[in-house]
Amino acid sequence: MPRLPLPPSVAFEQSENEGSNPTASPTLGDMIAARLSRRDLMQGLVAVSVAAEILWPEALAAAPAVGGGSSAAPATRFDFPELAVVPASPTHHVAEGYDADVLISWGDAVLPGAPPFAPGKPDAAAQAQQFGYNNDFLGFIPLDGAADRGLLVVNHEYTNSELMFPGLGAKSDKETGFAAVTREIVDAEMMAHGGSVLEIRRVDGKWQVVPDSKYIRRITAETEMAISGPAAGHDRMKTSADPAGTRVKGMLNNCAGGVTPWGTWLTCEENFNGYFWNKAAAEPITREARALRRYGAPGEWYAWGRFHDRFDAVKEPNEPNRFGWVVEIDPFDPTSTPRKRTAMGRFKHEGAGNIVNGDGRFVVYQGDDERFDYVYRFVTEGKVDASNRAANKDLLDTGTLYVARFNADGTGEWLPLVHGSANKDGQVWLSEANGFKDQAEILIHTRLAADLLGATRMDRPEDVDVNPKTGKVYVMLTNNNKRKADQVDAANPRADNKFGHIIEITPAGGDHTAPTFAWDILLKCGSPEIAEVGATFNPATSKDGWFGMPDNCAIDADGRLWVATDGNSPAETGRADGIWAVETEGPGRGTARCFFQVPTGAEMCGPCLTPDLETFFVAVQHPGETEDDGPLSTFESPGTRWPDFKDGMPPRPSVVAITRKGGGKIAG
Ligand code: FEO
Ligand code: CA
Ligand code: CA
Repeated sequence: MPRLPLPPSVAFEQSENEGSNPTASPTLGDMIAARLSRRDLMQGLVAVSVAAEILWPEALAAAPAVGGGSSAAPATRFDFPELAVVPASPTHHVAEGYDADVLISWGDAVLPGAPPFAPGKPDAAAQAQQFGYNNDFLGFIPLDGAADRGLLVVNHEYTNSELMFPGLGAKSDKETGFAAVTREIVDAEMMAHGGSVLEIRRVDGKWQVVPDSKYIRRITAETEMAISGPAAGHDRMKTSADPAGTRVKGMLNNCAGGVTPWGTWLTCEENFNGYFWNKAAAEPITREARALRRYGAPGEWYAWGRFHDRFDAVKEPNEPNRFGWVVEIDPFDPTSTPRKRTAMGRFKHEGAGNIVNGDGRFVVYQGDDERFDYVYRFVTEGKVDASNRAANKDLLDTGTLYVARFNADGTGEWLPLVHGSANKDGQVWLSEANGFKDQAEILIHTRLAADLLGATRMDRPEDVDVNPKTGKVYVMLTNNNKRKADQVDAANPRADNKFGHIIEITPAGGDHTAPTFAWDILLKCGSPEIAEVGATFNPATSKDGWFGMPDNCAIDADGRLWVATDGNSPAETGRADGIWAVETEGPGRGTARCFFQVPTGAEMCGPCLTPDLETFFVAVQHPGETEDDGPLSTFESPGTRWPDFKDGMPPRPSVVAITRKGGGKIAG
């Protein structure tokens, strides 16, 4: 734990995912199935051997020892030379034979005429034209089918004010009432949120931003957006600035996302609760108190409410309801209005992994990133029109949202969040009697509705992505150190789950709209060398190949899984966050291999491979942020000055383009 008092961003990280789901788990200890009990209850090397025996009999025969690596190791589809982990380094590292070049950094010009970056000076007008802070999701959309030209859409999740501006750090802790935070700082923070649309080109093997592109756009916390779908115009969406409940300014804490087959960007609002203010006054007086608590709002992680009434939950009690959505943006039209798609539910959205189902309907898998929260699936009513882009314009406004229940026998069910629908016992939970007047209320208070249906409380569901080759779905579960021994279940089998796990879902009959699925645990993460951890990496995994805290993921065009992590550190795992390649098929299933390591204090976001598999874009988020075991990191004394390494220049979150030296596919 960092020492107190904390700067706001660290307080933010720590209060994030406290777990605000008080419901009793429907799948408690008695649900530990016979199918899983052997490998889940046994510990350590014995458990690893048992797991290997069950999951990878071929691997066990081929590989001699956990953590040893082997020339006889089972083949995987990843042929790069493994990177040795680098626990604490001022800079980034990539596997030998690759270049990892910074493409764009916080403060770089985005819009034409943007002023140059001026370190230490909060300037909202400049920031609105420059690349935002804390790049997270990255999506690449080829232009005209070209491999070397495309749009790069980028989320800017949140701000680390203490690293961005001088004079903050400990003094800006919320215990002091954010005394050192000025209106200038707040306004610059607001402009550093949102997203960027860039056009990028590969020239002589190197990627560069096209400065005069007609597609360039910055989205901020003030960008005018539309609210669409069933909750648009609902009473709970109305504010004094928007009495119709159909327009909202900005998007907040956009974490991961997705790209649709029709070339739009799905960008997902995660910890929106932290931006709202006036906690003490809001709780007793608002009719929304219960719902606000379930969403952890107002979080008071930022001082925005002091200067902007809409972030004061007492002055504008419905404003929090207008955040926590999936936003669809057309990056081909910089004048288009981003739309918050309320049919997809309101929670702390991580990403929007998607696939066109066999019958043409569009399916989006979604995680709600909080301890003990849920995995969701949205299925459109209409079908994707592959020949007419405009026909898909409002496809995401009509459909059915489901929440997942993972049964102990390795099956699972998608429970529909539909007003008035009966469950299989004939009971109707989502009704006015239980606090949901209509479908809009179910969507605005998705978490409360999912609680009633008995969804499985998970260990922080982050990215959920579909393998386009196999149709299997991968769920990154980062960690949950609050799960007690009597709260474990088959899908979340470890108490005090510090290192997270990855679940593999197989839709029934290959149908992503089916009501049921099968599931298995692909990996329990953490060190295979520590018996108590109970990790289940394939024994062929090397000492550099294992990792903890899976967060984001990418599945490349060849159907291979790449995992980005959030939370590895010298103290936690003896490694930095980074990218690990995880084999999901064949004898090498469950083998992981280290490909990239971030600079100190950073987390790894945005894994994104181009369709030709020749470039791997990654987002280095919050470089230099206070490490769990390190000194307090500030503008004046950051943990690193990556990537510029100039006196007076703060660390800058940046997008990095990884290519193979001499060209060619990243792997395989
Ligand atoms: Fe923004 Fe769940 O990571
Ligand atoms: Ca994330
Ligand atoms: Ca994260």
